[in-house]
Amino acid sequence: MVESIVDAPQHVAIIMDGNGRWATNRGHARTFGHHRGAERVREIVDIAPDLGIKVLTLFAFSTENFRRPGYEVRVIMSLFRRYIAREVDGLDAEGVQVRFIGDRSRLPQNLQNLMGMMETRTAGNSRMILQLAISYGARTEITDAMRALAEEVAAGRLDPADITEETVGSRLYTGDVADPDLVIRTSGEQRISNFLLWQSAYAEYAFVDECWPDFTPERLAELCNTFGKRERRFGAVAAR
Ligand code: FPP
Repeated sequence: MVESIVDAPQHVAIIMDGNGRWATNRGHARTFGHHRGAERVREIVDIAPDLGIKVLTLFAFSTENFRRPGYEVRVIMSLFRRYIAREVDGLDAEGVQVRFIGDRSRLPQNLQNLMGMMETRTAGNSRMILQLAISYGARTEITDAMRALAEEVAAGRLDPADITEETVGSRLYTGDVADPDLVIRTSGEQRISNFLLWQSAYAEYAFVDECWPDFTPERLAELCNTFGKRERRFGAVAAR
């Protein structure tokens, strides 16, 4: 008997786009879309381990997003604080390890403190890693990694001949986490927007039309089936 099993991708990364448009299309302020978006985050994080996802990375706020109006940035920062405060116990109980990737020095101190608390609380969990990209930009990440390597070379701790792809990868914010298998972007835009440029070299991409507040757990399951790692497993021939 030959059994064909479609496995879920191990690492799914999502560019959560379209909150603002979703809200303005409905006659609401853009920030209403971010509130709805945060509710979606909870649902998607809840379902992801059940789909077999081992790492879920969500692009929540880019280095470029700091250019938005101050009020909108403040609302998003307060949504992050509220999310951490509300979800830390539940995520810990569910065995989710939370990591934040990005340049956190640009974030408000009270948010940085909460991020550190959440990472510490959940550090021992292994059911799924949730990477939240906040104040994240891939070019900054790669630049920081290059600077760190250059400093090690200058200090005589690293021979340039020993620099491999693994050496570079290990200096990125994502460290030892496996690369994404599937990158999803919502809201119909077909851009990468400075997200996981190094790590996504071999990823599959799925660009979907719905805005993030309309992105359902069912849709995630469907995309995991369509774009997941396809593996043929050869089971034993059943005895007659
Ligand atoms: C993109 O939509 C969304 C953001 C820049 C903010 C993302 C924030 C959330 C999903 C809510 C909170 C997240 C967590 C992790 C609790 P956009 O505003 O760029 O939409 P537009 O392209 O229509 O303007």
